[in-house]
Amino acid sequence: MTQNLRIDGERLWGSLMETAAFGALPKGGIRRLALSDEDKMVRDWFRAACEDAGLTVTVDGVGNMFATRPGTRPDAAAVAFGSHLDTQPAGGKFDGILGVLAGLEAIRTLNDAGYVTEHPLTLANFTNEEGARFSPAMMCSGVYSRDLEAAPVLASIDNEGRTFGEELARIGYAGDEEIGARRFHAFVELHIEQGPLLEAAEETIGIVTGGQGLLWFDGTITGQDSHAGTTPMTLRRDAMTALAAVALAVEDVARQHGPAGVGTIGEVHVLPGSRNTIPGTATFKAEFRHPDNDALGAMETMMAARIAAIAAERGVGIETRRSFRKDPTVFDPMVVDAIAAAAKDFPHRRMISGAGHDAFYVASTCPTAMIFVPCKDGISHNELESATPADCAAGAQVLLDTVLRLAR
Ligand code: GLV
Ligand code: MN
Ligand code: MN
Repeated sequence: MTQNLRIDGERLWGSLMETAAFGALPKGGIRRLALSDEDKMVRDWFRAACEDAGLTVTVDGVGNMFATRPGTRPDAAAVAFGSHLDTQPAGGKFDGILGVLAGLEAIRTLNDAGYVTEHPLTLANFTNEEGARFSPAMMCSGVYSRDLEAAPVLASIDNEGRTFGEELARIGYAGDEEIGARRFHAFVELHIEQGPLLEAAEETIGIVTGGQGLLWFDGTITGQDSHAGTTPMTLRRDAMTALAAVALAVEDVARQHGPAGVGTIGEVHVLPGSRNTIPGTATFKAEFRHPDNDALGAMETMMAARIAAIAAERGVGIETRRSFRKDPTVFDPMVVDAIAAAAKDFPHRRMISGAGHDAFYVASTCPTAMIFVPCKDGISHNELESATPADCAAGAQVLLDTVLRLAR
């Protein structure tokens, strides 16, 4: 059924290492924030590589890129695959990029064999999966699926006050394709696991059956700036120490919903930012995740009570705003089974995703599932993120075989 087509693992690895130059960091990672100059460079590379492979590239109004190879049934909806090319501020060489470049490798393999599928094939790069520069994560797969609206996304601002829409136009990727007009027969996303389970079990392939829910919230703590030498400890309204209490409460709420629940404060700003001024303002960006939707709701409720108590105890104001919620995702059994059939010769397991992925949103528009491969020590969102050439090749092979099962 899969015609014994073998992907070229060395060629895939070469693409991964070549694109790792766009935004390369000293410790081996990548800084390629969405809509940055580095994002433009990798997009230009990707567009040229797709055109060289004979694909037709289109770009929609939020910069999502779709590269299509015709099938023998032009009326049929495309089988799609892909991921994202943006990274965290200090990200790795595999998160997102692997899924896009493995898709390119699958296309190149089909081209080399002269093999044409019934359904067209579409390779996708979704804009701003990471949500590090413009919030939230999975932003433009969310607009694609129409779970998020385009207007607020285009108006969203980064920490420097630049808007998404201006930056998208500046790098030349404000496309003219109507967002979400293109719907797929099925979607498959290959990704590194970003956790430790596959590596620990010496398994090569994760057959991903769904993903946990996410809740993001932003907060501002308002106390009072005052002199660090003269203000007695009893009279302080210190936004920094209140922030410390909030951070420990996030950790405690997550632990009380563990082991599945997790919670993080990943970004803070303390103002005015002087050693000898007690900070009167602190802002933070936090998140909770849990595979069970009711438990995620309970974490939010418990956190609100903890924040009210901290504010009262420390004489500060704490305002929070929920900025994003994504309910847990359940992937499609037909696509999951296709992946399982393609993975049968590799050590594998079924699992759910701890990280968020574009596939979570695409899943609301067509049958969708994901393939995971191991990463070293389970580390991701870190420059040291690493995956072996053999595991990347195995993932690309399972991706190709899955796509052939879905596209005939
Ligand atoms: C995306 O990388 C996420 O899981 O936050
Ligand atoms: Mn990713
Ligand atoms: Mn990521």
